[in-house]
Amino acid sequence: MVDITWSELSFGYIKTDYNVRCYFKNGAWGKIEKTTSEEISIHMAATCLHYGQEAFEGLKAFRGKDHKIRVFRWNENAKRLRSSAETIMCEGVPDEIFKEAVFEAILLNQRYIPPYESEGSLYIRPLLIGTGARVGVKPADEYLFIVFVTPVGPYFKEGFKPVKMQIVRDFDRAAPLGTGHVKIGGNYAASLRPGERAHDEGFASCLFLDAKTKTKIDEAGPANFFGIKNNTYVTPHSHTILPSITNMSLRTLAADMGLKVEAREIMVEELGTFEEGGACGTAAVISPIGEIQDRETGKVYKLGDGVNPGPYSKKLYDRLRAIQYGEEPDVFGWCEVVE
Ligand SMILES: Cc1ncc(COP(=O)(O)O)c(C=O)c1O
Repeated sequence: MVDITWSELSFGYIKTDYNVRCYFKNGAWGKIEKTTSEEISIHMAATCLHYGQEAFEGLKAFRGKDHKIRVFRWNENAKRLRSSAETIMCEGVPDEIFKEAVFEAILLNQRYIPPYESEGSLYIRPLLIGTGARVGVKPADEYLFIVFVTPVGPYFKEGFKPVKMQIVRDFDRAAPLGTGHVKIGGNYAASLRPGERAHDEGFASCLFLDAKTKTKIDEAGPANFFGIKNNTYVTPHSHTILPSITNMSLRTLAADMGLKVEAREIMVEELGTFEEGGACGTAAVISPIGEIQDRETGKVYKLGDGVNPGPYSKKLYDRLRAIQYGEEPDVFGWCEVVE
């Protein structure tokens, strides 16, 4: 067994035994290789360093109640990585390579998968970078696809409690016809300064508005926003928002629970009408939102009682979690057992 105190794990990087790599050279992907090295050696003129040819993914594997390892919706992450690659002219990673690399990285590092009882999981980070050397602004002709994993603890150590978010108007994360819909480094670089400022000012994260009109809800930091009212699950729909796989799953679960589901524009003023709200993503599944403050106008929107997660948020969270840990039948076919 590895020397990890599972109950103290947070969402950080811990070295594991192996990562796996696959190189695209001379017009073809090579064989998947495993390595114990945490380092990569690339040309100083690699396009990922200069022109942002870099895309990544984030997914999780869980040690179930029955001790089986389940990976959650890997094929959706594979599809999204290809959409990111296509947007920034990287070579796309075929499903077979994505799956083999992810499954091999999990199996090679099995001893780092937190036990079921700890409520942790194995976070999987696929990364695609342009490694070909270019000085002119052009896509590379060589790429490296890496999958590394790291054990992470339960996101809510202090329990599943509502957080405060801050609306920002002096920064945009993504341009209207830009790259907000894909998972590439540049979007995150643009979000760092407002995100850190929000933390410093006492908020869990910032809530971005659409860059063009500043009237609609965009991303909730590195997560999607959803609100619930009148038995309806509402989430913003826009080209600038990353199609979250968690959100996609919650929409299915919400419909299954008898809620109406709407993916549409959400105007800022509508925030005040939600009975519940949350940020959703792989890391936390759901972070319930209790309060949203507009940094510029000072206006405060309360969602729910601000202290307890809303009943639907709790139900959605519990159901998704139960499917991931094999406590409930996987009726939607979202998990694949790794063996
Ligand atoms: C900007 C952004 N939005 C939304 C999400 C949630 O996506 P997912 O549920 O696929 O993790 C993430 C995290 O990956 C993200 O970085």
